[in-house]
Amino acid sequence: ETCDLAIRGGTLVTATDQFSADIGIRDGRIVQIAESVSATEEIDASGLLVLPGGIDAHVHLDQPTSDGTVMADDFASGTRSAAAGGNTTVLPFAMQVKGSSLRQSVEDYHRKADGNCFTDVSFHLVISDPTPQVLGQELPALVRDGYTSFKVFMTYDDLMLNDTELLEVFDVARREQALVMVHAEGHDAIRYMTDKLETEGKTAPYYHAEAHAQIAEREATHRAISHAQLTDVPVVIVHVSGRDPMEQIQWARKRGMKVFAETCPQYITLTRDDLKGLNMDFEGAKYVCSPPPRDHDSQAAIWDGLRDGTFDLFSSDHCPFYFEAPDNTGKNNDRARTSFKWVPNGIPGVETRLPILFSEGVSKGRISIERFVALTSTNPARLYGLHPQKGTLSVGADADITLWDPELQATIRQDRLNHGSDYTPFEGLQITGWPVRTILRGQTVAKDGKPTAAAASGRHLKRGTSVTGYP
Ligand code: URP
Ligand code: ZN
Ligand code: ZN
Ligand code: ZN
Repeated sequence: ETCDLAIRGGTLVTATDQFSADIGIRDGRIVQIAESVSATEEIDASGLLVLPGGIDAHVHLDQPTSDGTVMADDFASGTRSAAAGGNTTVLPFAMQVKGSSLRQSVEDYHRKADGNCFTDVSFHLVISDPTPQVLGQELPALVRDGYTSFKVFMTYDDLMLNDTELLEVFDVARREQALVMVHAEGHDAIRYMTDKLETEGKTAPYYHAEAHAQIAEREATHRAISHAQLTDVPVVIVHVSGRDPMEQIQWARKRGMKVFAETCPQYITLTRDDLKGLNMDFEGAKYVCSPPPRDHDSQAAIWDGLRDGTFDLFSSDHCPFYFEAPDNTGKNNDRARTSFKWVPNGIPGVETRLPILFSEGVSKGRISIERFVALTSTNPARLYGLHPQKGTLSVGADADITLWDPELQATIRQDRLNHGSDYTPFEGLQITGWPVRTILRGQTVAKDGKPTAAAASGRHLKRGTSVTGYP
């Protein structure tokens, strides 16, 4: 039995160890891991790391907005950018439109995605309107169809759920063994701060960082944890920005609760000072996301959490807007210039997530390379019901493989990226270690930072129950 493809001479890395071996691939799957494998086609991986393909478990693509701004990535450009950045699977959101059925919203997203993706894709749901019909019928049916996770928001006027609704959604999650992801920021506290700052004439983008105070994030994190305890359900606290919410997560874990946590590149590389722009000007809007980046002490806390296991996941929260775009469709729009509260929230980062964590983490000696693989591929696969098909290098798994040059030096530059945004918030960041080839089910989809696949070969993945959430 010969292989279609062999990857030879590299150092394989998993979440638990590293070793030299060749990989044999047939029909898109790993069929052999051995000292020497031969095949009709061979890739020389000597001097390279051979990693399970990156899984970005938190990306926003082609979501309609309520304010007329437009996301800078559709499924084609977003997944092309993901592939160039070493990812083979992304988990975007299918957001329920208020007033419409959840199933309808899921079908809308499939129409946008199907046939257009350069990575594999699987949707988390967003529950914005938990009607009895949604909670009683649609959600349970969708979970059984392989949409085994959903996100809820504790802020944003058009998305937030009240505490009763949160508890109701959590209850369905427990019954269906689904995983709830929580955007934990306290809405009323943010609104209070926003009103106060605006009254004082503080309307520049920078004040977004003051309005979205860490105290509000801490409070909401604790409230979400309390609701999860009451309903006896595992939860994921997404995009955790600093020490205060981390302490709430650790508090819950010490009491035996299943609380999982995610952090993102912006919380180890940016601070609130970036939102000042050049001189408290509108340039700061390029860094507006929620929760906002904090300070250097928070960054140090995040590193502790990445090392000590407080964090399970390192995702991009890629939520791409243009800075400059016509007809008020970008961040720099007429309304946003009147107040930070109208600046679209979110930054691009699906292509730079892996290089940033590798460079700042592995190359600088802050985390091991096995931990890097766990945070960026294996843990998301296990937590979100994709393991062992995805997230590891083992016989029988999909041949989703990223070849990584640990020595390659590069600088993050907008003109080298493949995303749709007209800027990167990480411009100028020096990187050591970069993905040189991304292989999706045995097929090379990106090489040296550029997409190679002629056709979009990504598939939609049905997911199983979270093995970490419901062991
Ligand atoms: O600012 C952000 N993070 N925008 C994306 C939406 C979300 O809350 O994840
Ligand atoms: Zn589909
Ligand atoms: Zn969020
Ligand atoms: Zn997000």
